[in-house]
Amino acid sequence: MGKVIGLRCITCGRIYPPDTGIFTCPECGPYNGTLEVIYDYEGLKKRLNRENWVVPSLPGHYRYIHLLPFEDTNLISPLEVGNTPLIKSHTLEQKYKSKGIYLKDDTRNATLSYKDRASSIALIKAREEGSKGIIVASTGNAASSMAGFGASVGMPVHVLVPKSIPEGKLLQLLLFKANVVMIDGIYDTCFDISIKVAKETGLYLRSTAVNPYLSEGKKTSAFEIAEQLRYNLPDYVFVPVGDGCIIESVYKGFKELKLLGLTNTVPRIIGVQAKNSAPLLKAFENNSQKIEFIENPETVADSISVGIPRDGIKALKAVRDSDGFFVGVSDEEILFAIRELAEDTGLFVEPAAAAAFAGFKRSLKERRIPVNSTSVILLTGNGLKDPKAIRNIVKKDVPVLSSDDLDGVIKAIER
Ligand SMILES: Cc1ncc(COP(=O)(O)O)c(C=O)c1O
Ligand SMILES: [Zn+2]
Repeated sequence: MGKVIGLRCITCGRIYPPDTGIFTCPECGPYNGTLEVIYDYEGLKKRLNRENWVVPSLPGHYRYIHLLPFEDTNLISPLEVGNTPLIKSHTLEQKYKSKGIYLKDDTRNATLSYKDRASSIALIKAREEGSKGIIVASTGNAASSMAGFGASVGMPVHVLVPKSIPEGKLLQLLLFKANVVMIDGIYDTCFDISIKVAKETGLYLRSTAVNPYLSEGKKTSAFEIAEQLRYNLPDYVFVPVGDGCIIESVYKGFKELKLLGLTNTVPRIIGVQAKNSAPLLKAFENNSQKIEFIENPETVADSISVGIPRDGIKALKAVRDSDGFFVGVSDEEILFAIRELAEDTGLFVEPAAAAAFAGFKRSLKERRIPVNSTSVILLTGNGLKDPKAIRNIVKKDVPVLSSDDLDGVIKAIER
């Protein structure tokens, strides 16, 4: 069962007990002092092996309960999460003359995004604490995900989102009966407000980075990839990056597998950012520890439109420690990648997810990765989340014919 021994500050290394309600290190502050959940790895290493580390009787990603921060399986939402397909695309492999291209299809989670991995764990932690409700700041997916998981067990969810939130995400929120507050500002502003509201109201805080338990849910795709590839890990994993929480969590997952002796290597972790919303790419390219924030991040990929990457410290560390890199892609490349994935693989993804694929292509083109390597590309959100972003890139001249015009229909089909 969950064996958390403490929460360790990413900057100073101080360890705090897991149940004090402390979410960031008071010594290092909320930005530098994000915490990391640590387990009794020595004890786990003695007990766990490739035959017993997964508990097959549990659903979805809860199967990794030995490495998750909870004990009581009664607190699990009935919505399934994780255990998503890893699709080997022969079409893309041929096209790019690549040895292995695997698409991790996280558009299939209960609320159609990767964020369900985190929301599922946040819900358990909030229920453990007997919280009266949950608050989250979000570009859209974290909120709609949390709202769905809240709805699944009757937990009230309050969300702060920018008024530019895409239609699909907003409809999910409204249908899941979340208490939606739109802010006339960008996501970064919503985030700051959420911290203050949580303090004032006592609501459980599910905003990213400042709650270390979210990473525990987000790391499970690494476990799945290891299992799905029978422990032959890929050379590269491509991750779209906004706040940096997904990427640091994926790295943590691979690192834990290695710590427990379940695997021997850690893949190189590649962060993909949209060019005009890329503070982490910039810090990486400048070889700097300092992350310069951006006031007006701009990209069609709303989920990674983040000027103040809240998990920036951990994200940079994940990329550097794994010997990976950051790559930037334009909106044009992102939109093209959406269409290419749809046409060549049958997968329909939102812009942020397509960014990961665009980053893979750019890395190949710039020879930052060799063709005879294997890559996993994380597809983090479903295309129906944001139809407006995609409307402009699809063919518009669809014929409308009269119901008795069989000749016309045949002509149109043979066109
Ligand atoms: C679909 C999708 N992809 C990628 C990301 C980026 O994740 P992170 O902010 O943890 O870097 C998000 C976050 O909202 C997302 O919703
Ligand atoms: Zn600290």
